[in-house]
Amino acid sequence: MRPPFVITVDGPAASGKGTVAAGLAAVYGLAMLDSGLLYRAVGVLAERAGLDLDNAEAAAGIARRLRAEDLGDPAFRTRGAGEAASRVAVHPAVRLALRDLQLAFARRPEGAVLDGRDQGTVICPEAPAKLYVTAAPGVRAERRWKQLQAQGEAVGYDEILADIVKRDERDGSRADSPMRPAADAVLLDTSQMTIEQAADAARRIVEAARARWEAS
Ligand code: C5P
Repeated sequence: MRPPFVITVDGPAASGKGTVAAGLAAVYGLAMLDSGLLYRAVGVLAERAGLDLDNAEAAAGIARRLRAEDLGDPAFRTRGAGEAASRVAVHPAVRLALRDLQLAFARRPEGAVLDGRDQGTVICPEAPAKLYVTAAPGVRAERRWKQLQAQGEAVGYDEILADIVKRDERDGSRADSPMRPAADAVLLDTSQMTIEQAADAARRIVEAARARWEAS
């Protein structure tokens, strides 16, 4: 039987993957999971509870208690939350605790769009459409800088670039579910693209995958 029409959109921070994923979800009328938000929530809630983010069991305890309805806090969208997320995301016990929520999404019969780092490699390797969205670190830092400015968080460009490089390194080198493209993912480098161009390119990639899926 053919799998549900799931689109995975993986890639590093500020690559444009969130925008691409949201655009695809709108085009295909699919629900979208921002899996990074789960890790952000665990990181922020662990910090608020005064826990050591390097303590796997403490962070996993928070992850096990996390509910979908807890995810609306704007504090999860800050720069510090991204860093905390990446620190708790190295722990296999945290990843395991967040797995069922992600799998439930991936198994929706009507399909879904899954945005993250390991959606195409670990959570839904059977997804018929997989994208890996990247951009040069300098371009990503500039995008994130503008976004944070708009949110009223004044941070220098150099600090953001350093954050991005450190986060890429941590996410890409961890032993459990490192950030990397699935073997059958299509790479989309958005460095030279506007949001509209990236969205169009993503749609063309997914259209081709959908045609193959329909014929299967
Ligand atoms: O995508 P976002 O920047 O919100 O992700 C925050 C952090 O959460 C990432 O840097 C990564 O460490 C972690 N993450 C992950 N696996 C995912 C999604 C996010 O490890 N599927």
